Amino acid sequence: MYNVIFLGAPGSGKGTQGEVVAKELKLAHMATGDLFRKAIERGDELGDTVKSYMERGELVPDEITISVVLKHLAGLKDVSGIILDGFPRSLRQAEALDEALVKQGEGIGRVIYINVPEDELVRRLSGRWVCRSCQSPYQCGCAEVAEGKCSRCQGELYQRPDDTPETVKERLKVYFSKTAPLIEYYRSKGKLSEIDGMAEITEVTKRIISAIKCGK
Ligand code: AP5
Ligand code: MG
Repeated sequence: MYNVIFLGAPGSGKGTQGEVVAKELKLAHMATGDLFRKAIERGDELGDTVKSYMERGELVPDEITISVVLKHLAGLKDVSGIILDGFPRSLRQAEALDEALVKQGEGIGRVIYINVPEDELVRRLSGRWVCRSCQSPYQCGCAEVAEGKCSRCQGELYQRPDDTPETVKERLKVYFSKTAPLIEYYRSKGKLSEIDGMAEITEVTKRIISAIKCGK
């Protein structure tokens, strides 16, 4: 399997790019935030547990997140690889992932770090609308947001409850303290490709695909 990690702050474009790149390269796409939001919608035990952490903009505890991800990976069938969007987000998660992949004789192919300045992250998150059914993100000002409908699946668009200014502030704080250290972790392993996330969406896609294909 060719495993790719999408690393980047909230609003850097992991979800936007994850969908398109996965389709283009025929890889599976797993976003931990999406898995948790689906659990909340189902109202199951996992959903009840993760809800309060997500509402506060905190990370869901490592042991819960790791077990959800490993279970998801174990259930994959007939895939040539996967894009891990938003996982790992702490050193402990990164080490658990390494360990699990090594046990299966696998590893991380590439880590795509999408770099976007903080003021732009705040701007994007405050203007984001998301499809309730397929989770595609849109930005205020586009036709889909004007109509309130997803152009991919016709689902209803909504604003995530954790995209409020206070929660965004907390999510960014958590990102810089817990997740940003993974940039050096993967750089030191020679796995990191840094992508300028300020370009147009289609241009960012091209650069990510090229980094994955060239392995640098
Ligand atoms: P999650 O859902 O992963 O949220 P996040 O990391 O905060 O990231 P976002 O989804 O907000 O941003 P994104 O990078 O996907 O950006 P997007 O493509 O939407 O996690 C939510 C919560 O779940 C966490 O806070 C935590 O509680 C929990 N959780 C998840 N994973 C966890 C883990 N591993 N461990 C513990 N807890 C975990 O784009 C944003 C906007 O910008 C969109 O409107 C888009 O249209 C626009 N945009 C994208 N690219 C561009 C561009 N190039 N130019 C202009 N606009 C653009
Ligand atoms: Mg996302």
